[in-house]
Amino acid sequence: MDPIKNPFSPGAGSPPPELVGRDPALEQARILLGRIKNKRPEKSMLLTGLRGVGKTVLLNEIEQLAIREGFRTIFIEAHENIALGPLIFPYLRTLLFDLDRMAGMSHKVKRGLAVLRSFIGTIKMTLGSEVTIGIDIEPERGSADSGDLEIDLPNLFVAIGEAAEERKSAVAILIDEVQYFSQKELGALIVAMHKIQQRQLPILLLGAGLPLLQGLAGEAKSYAERLFSFPDIGALSQEEAAIALKEPAQAVGVHFDSAALEEIFRLTKGYPYFLQEWGYQAWNIAESSPVTLQTIQKATAAVIRRLDQNFFRVRFDRLTPSEKNFLRAMAQLGPSPQRIGDVADILNNKTASLSPVRAKLIKKGMIFSPAYGDMAFTVPLFDEFMVRVMPEWPLIPNIMV
Ligand SMILES: Nc1ncnc2c1ncn2[C@@H]1O[C@H](COP(=O)(O)OP(=O)(O)OP(=O)(O)O)[C@@H](O)[C@H]1O
Ligand SMILES: [Mg+2]
Repeated sequence: MDPIKNPFSPGAGSPPPELVGRDPALEQARILLGRIKNKRPEKSMLLTGLRGVGKTVLLNEIEQLAIREGFRTIFIEAHENIALGPLIFPYLRTLLFDLDRMAGMSHKVKRGLAVLRSFIGTIKMTLGSEVTIGIDIEPERGSADSGDLEIDLPNLFVAIGEAAEERKSAVAILIDEVQYFSQKELGALIVAMHKIQQRQLPILLLGAGLPLLQGLAGEAKSYAERLFSFPDIGALSQEEAAIALKEPAQAVGVHFDSAALEEIFRLTKGYPYFLQEWGYQAWNIAESSPVTLQTIQKATAAVIRRLDQNFFRVRFDRLTPSEKNFLRAMAQLGPSPQRIGDVADILNNKTASLSPVRAKLIKKGMIFSPAYGDMAFTVPLFDEFMVRVMPEWPLIPNIMV
């Protein structure tokens, strides 16, 4: 069928033709936005879920909701190795400039800029000269310039919250990939939101990250649970997965046979990214409507090849040989959560000597701990990929120390 008309959209953050199964999270966000606007306390949201479940897409959707509700928004993406301060600084500067341009003089906005100026002063000191300040205002000495992020970020957020409040405005800070912040940065963010909540200032935080985020937040500050809710963004049910495929196709007059839908669900387990990939390839391979089971079977080989070359491969290529061995051993045990002792047995090794490898894999966002002592893949179907890519077992001998 005509690839130009193909409605499916596999890709990182690509909006799906139909956002299925996310009404509860969207409703929760709508309530949160409404309550913050009305100065009522509400827990901020940190969406958590595996790779490719649709967190970024949902966060973008929530940003649109916030804009419609009259919020000013900031959308940032955390990275491994980029510090929170320099990352967030340019966005906060733009925000304050926007507030400054509104009619009438505002002391709180000017103060916000002065505090931001002093905040970036300390970061500039630690990072060198590559941070451009671009704020033509004297720094407010003694505010947000202690050099301790847990003190400075809350002070900065309060100054910005007061500026927004004076402008009768509200601010939504959206952060993707929150798990990449260091414990110190996450702690500072939590303390900052704590202070904002105590002062009832119009700032809210909406974040997204891998499932380990909830644990990281709890470790950073034990009261994180009381400040944030952690909606679990997961795979779609069979019924929802069918809707995600059927509805966009129907809109252009194409039908899926029920056997085709069942087969896609069996293969994708309802993971949104995979649904888009299978939908996309099946569309291009199908001669005409309806899309049949045979079409899906033909599409599957193409999809797996594509996933193996891209989605899975980029992650695999970032692994060291011992990390590959570790994940291959996990895959040998199957898709469910595994215990490190069982992985150690397979590798003929001791649990203690595997701990550093496990820690690195957690840091890289490849595995997480769904329950104490358990480990699971953050990438759905990664176990099947590991078996495909390292069929000979063990493939990399004498690597595991
Ligand atoms: N509710 C949904 N229904 C159908 N498809 C969806 C849904 N949500 C997301 N998708 C599709 O899933 C894919 C992945 O979405 P997205 O990039 O938002 O995932 P993610 O959770 O942010 O992944 P990562 O952890 O790798 O950043 C996209 O192709 C998107 O179109
Ligand atoms: Mg994402």
